[in-house]
Amino acid sequence: MKKINKDPRIIVAVDFPSSGAALKLVSALDPELCRLKVGKEMFTRLGPAFIKQLRERDFEIFLDLKFHDIPNTVAAACDAAADLGVWMINLHASGGRRMMEAARERLERHARAPLLVAVTILTSLDRQDIAEVGYAGEPVDNVLRLARLTADAGLDGIVCSPQEAAPVRAQVPREFLLVTPGVRPGSTAVDDQRRVMTPRDALVAGADFLVIGRPITASPDPLASLRAILEEVAD
Ligand code: C5P
Repeated sequence: MKKINKDPRIIVAVDFPSSGAALKLVSALDPELCRLKVGKEMFTRLGPAFIKQLRERDFEIFLDLKFHDIPNTVAAACDAAADLGVWMINLHASGGRRMMEAARERLERHARAPLLVAVTILTSLDRQDIAEVGYAGEPVDNVLRLARLTADAGLDGIVCSPQEAAPVRAQVPREFLLVTPGVRPGSTAVDDQRRVMTPRDALVAGADFLVIGRPITASPDPLASLRAILEEVAD
């Protein structure tokens, strides 16, 4: 089994329209205190060079590109992501068992493979939305089914809402990682998130890593906001 260093548990979502603004934020943060998440917008605009810039500042990177394609294509994409030296990557569990296994097997060729986690049901989808694409039942039932499939396929964990963390945690092995966005410290704005939890409650519910964006990135003092969250969860 992989030896996973859980600290730091906070992953700051770097969502900016330009590298200048992103690097200004990153310069204010500390790789001892957080990891960074780079998503589709920044990666599509700035590519591998941006990842290199962040790694040169000693940050570990979650490359959040949510791959979903045929097994061979996703395995090759994961291979390319691993070559960037990132810490964590992800794909959609709905791509199926063979797709997930192909990705995991390809990463086994890397001496320092990134952690591989799966998105189960996007938290933006409600019961009606998932019914429309053909999934019966409540979102949480589908999250549980896809979490078990992900664990069976030998991946390292899933991305889920903190509100799903407790039921998932009850059904998967202890070492299976739960990565949760939708986290808001008590004193900050909810923004466009709907189903939020505080950092402390998310960890108590069983989350291993917390993805937090605007409460830190939109703060006048991002490092102070990060430290305040770390203090809130310290005990
Ligand atoms: O600013 P905020 O804390 O809402 O940012 C959360 C980050 O997590 C964003 O990058 C968002 O795209 C991402 N995310 C999410 N909900 C998901 C998956 C990813 O908010 N279900």
